[in-house]
Amino acid sequence: MAITRDIFHDPVLVTEIVALLVRKPGIYVDGTLGGGGHSLAILRVLFEAGFFEGSLLIGIDQDEAALRAAREKLREFEDRAVLVKGNFFDIGGIISKVCGERGLKPHVAGILLDLGVSSFQIDTAERGFSYMREGPLDMRMDSNASVSACEIVNTYEEKQLAQLFYRYGEEPRSRSIARAIVAYRQSNGAISSTQELADIIRGNAHGGERVIKTLSRVFQALRIEVNAELDVLSRVLDDGIDCLDEHGRMAVISYHSLEDRIVKRVFAEKSRSDWGPKGVGLREPLAWGSVTSITRKPLIASQQEIATNSRARSAKLRVIEKIYQGGSSGRP
Ligand SMILES: C[S@@+](CC[C@H](N)C(=O)[O-])C[C@H]1O[C@@H](n2cnc3c(N)ncnc32)[C@H](O)[C@@H]1O
Repeated sequence: MAITRDIFHDPVLVTEIVALLVRKPGIYVDGTLGGGGHSLAILRVLFEAGFFEGSLLIGIDQDEAALRAAREKLREFEDRAVLVKGNFFDIGGIISKVCGERGLKPHVAGILLDLGVSSFQIDTAERGFSYMREGPLDMRMDSNASVSACEIVNTYEEKQLAQLFYRYGEEPRSRSIARAIVAYRQSNGAISSTQELADIIRGNAHGGERVIKTLSRVFQALRIEVNAELDVLSRVLDDGIDCLDEHGRMAVISYHSLEDRIVKRVFAEKSRSDWGPKGVGLREPLAWGSVTSITRKPLIASQQEIATNSRARSAKLRVIEKIYQGGSSGRP
């Protein structure tokens, strides 16, 4: 069955992404293909700008369902799009392989990362991402991955669970929720469904609106752990910048502060030149900064976009441009 864009995922900040990212022919990598909404917009702009010759879009997703939906959506551009099942932490390897197979030089003009999960993943009860839907405790973006939320909830010790909820959910009641989970396991056996877990959390959260916040934070923490989201993020930012051509750009949309902090930190580090220890007085740095920031502050969605797409409310877009191809012996 073909999945339409609205059912699958409504992409955010599309106008801003294409305006800032698509400026010349080349290889464009959408590391979080999802339903292909952003990729479609990128391909259309490449076509309309006369950049089609010499361009290729590489779309990566670890979720088979996303790849199926994107394949359908990008059908009209299938000769300019290569869709790959994989994890974006292997961005360099995927680009080399796709370009190698086609005899192309890997001149990467743009990389997009639209982090997190798609609406389709959240809305599909059997994927177990949502505390609002009864389903198995799964939360794997890649259904072949070995560790699911069920394993974590049922095997982590109380201290590990508390640390997880605090670190990845910033949940103030992390310890009492961890304690309640372990106590429940001891008297009732394994916790297997989203609603079973949600009920335990509800029983240990403050009332009113704060229950919803606690549920979101604990589910977010589990999802981040299951998919190693923050570990792979640091790596893809580093490796992605290495893959970019000079004047190539990377655009990253994040949806919570833990992600945005990493993006901000890596972009800041990469833009700084290394002048060695203080007081040495070098004439030129040991290594030049390799990127410049295009968005001094992160871009956010307009009220108009938020009114039609609630997901856009928490989106933050940061864009950098590669200015130097690396190395430590001065600018080329
Ligand atoms: C927010 S959605 C992207 C939506 C997409 N921009 C669109 O227009 O439909 C994020 C997608 O990235 C995928 N994803 C998240 N982390 C990934 C990773 N490390 N490697 C590959 N895909 C990933 C998810 O499976 C999901 O389909």
